[in-house]
Amino acid sequence: MTNLDAGALPLQEVDPADAGAVAAWRQVPRVAFLEPAPAPQDEDRWAREAAERVAGQRLSGVVDAGRWVATYRSFDSQLTVPGAGPVPVNAVSSVSVLPTHRRRGLLRRMIDADLRRAREQGHALAALIAAEAPIYGRFGFGVATASVSLSVDARSCRFRPDAPRGSGRLELVPAAAAWPELAAVHDASRRARPGGLAREETWWRQWTRPGGSRALGASAHVVLHRDATGVADGYAVYEVAEEWAGRVSRCSARVLDLHAADAGAYRDLWEFVLSLDWVRTVTAKDRPVDELLPLLLEDPRAVQRGAVDDFLWVRPLDAVGALAARRYRGCGTLVLRVVDPQGAAGAAVLLHVDAQRCGQDGWTCAEVTATTREPDVVLGAAELGALLLGGTSAVALARAGRVAGSPEAVRRLHSMLATEQEPWCPTWF
Ligand SMILES: CC(C)(COP(=O)(O)OP(=O)(O)OC[C@H]1O[C@@H](n2cnc3c(N)ncnc32)[C@H](O)[C@@H]1OP(=O)(O)O)[C@@H](O)C(=O)NCCC(=O)NCCS
Repeated sequence: MTNLDAGALPLQEVDPADAGAVAAWRQVPRVAFLEPAPAPQDEDRWAREAAERVAGQRLSGVVDAGRWVATYRSFDSQLTVPGAGPVPVNAVSSVSVLPTHRRRGLLRRMIDADLRRAREQGHALAALIAAEAPIYGRFGFGVATASVSLSVDARSCRFRPDAPRGSGRLELVPAAAAWPELAAVHDASRRARPGGLAREETWWRQWTRPGGSRALGASAHVVLHRDATGVADGYAVYEVAEEWAGRVSRCSARVLDLHAADAGAYRDLWEFVLSLDWVRTVTAKDRPVDELLPLLLEDPRAVQRGAVDDFLWVRPLDAVGALAARRYRGCGTLVLRVVDPQGAAGAAVLLHVDAQRCGQDGWTCAEVTATTREPDVVLGAAELGALLLGGTSAVALARAGRVAGSPEAVRRLHSMLATEQEPWCPTWF
């Protein structure tokens, strides 16, 4: 260990258009995320992909003795919030510090600087995917979406007679050519459910272009669902694995991504994957915790749920802006005191949702104002981040000692924030 004064090392920015600089910067997350070095013949492609991925984004980090030792990346994206659709979010990624420079405050300096900038530029929300759960609570991020992995016994899946059916047809398509149709389906899907995050064109291109380090594997297939007019309204991307025990099939399929505009297309896509010849088990990861599939089956136990993991962590950068960005199903009035050690979202806020203002869609805009009134509920920025998309219970957080208030006030907060769909984000970034 060196006697490093990390505070003396200045934060620096990288021009994302400078491919050489990006490649040097990208070495830090490669090491910190335990990725192998690219083989010499792959180095150029690796550098090209890294530069393509960060085009137009904000890259920063720390240099020590002429070498990058810490990195941080953020970019403007869109996050779907309850009732209001997509709103701007400061998305954070590529957070890494070389093992030689860890635990000297470099992450803290990088994240403080970026969140301050994002707040000054008008962002009310930031979001990230945490590599390890204990890192980001201290920086005001809370778990806002969860995902579950599934394992389905394909042979015991029979759909109930009342399960909706799509009116269109299914078509196997090449990913590289069909990605714009997939992107359109995904875009409609992510706008319709809290937690949805925009996927940039580069995201799709790198996933569907053969040969790249982020590309779909050689065993992957894409099935598109088209409605009666021929427009794509659902898709499943899955890969297959062949395995036999003697002459008995143990073949499996893994759903990598599945989105549909309605329950009929959704059922058709699952039924297709579950009835592939030879396939006995279908697994899926990063699925919503309220996945519809078990409800459509005669035997819901054919779907076994695996680990439920946190996925998207959300941080309010401005308590008033964050609470005003979404809309509400439940009505009421509450004073919330948001405690934020970093300062950005610390405030006392009057949240007033008036039933008279309820829209035809059943959602109501809140009046959110700063106030000097005594709070009904006191909570941290991380807890507000966890609550904003409706996926975390205020009552549960209060029972855990993380939200303070009378039982009545906490119940009211819970019912005001509740949503009918669990928030879901299946998009890695
Ligand atoms: C996680 C990582 C970025 C932390 O960087 P760092 O410069 O060591 O972090 P800091 O020194 O600024 O730590 C700030 C605080 O977070 C804590 N912390 C940092 N990493 C932590 C971890 N992995 N688990 C628990 N606490 C952690 C520190 O102990 C410190 O706590 P304090 O507020 O009580 O002082 C770095 O260790 C790393 O690159 N890890 C591997 C890659 C990774 O996981 N990146 C995150 C991707 S989301």
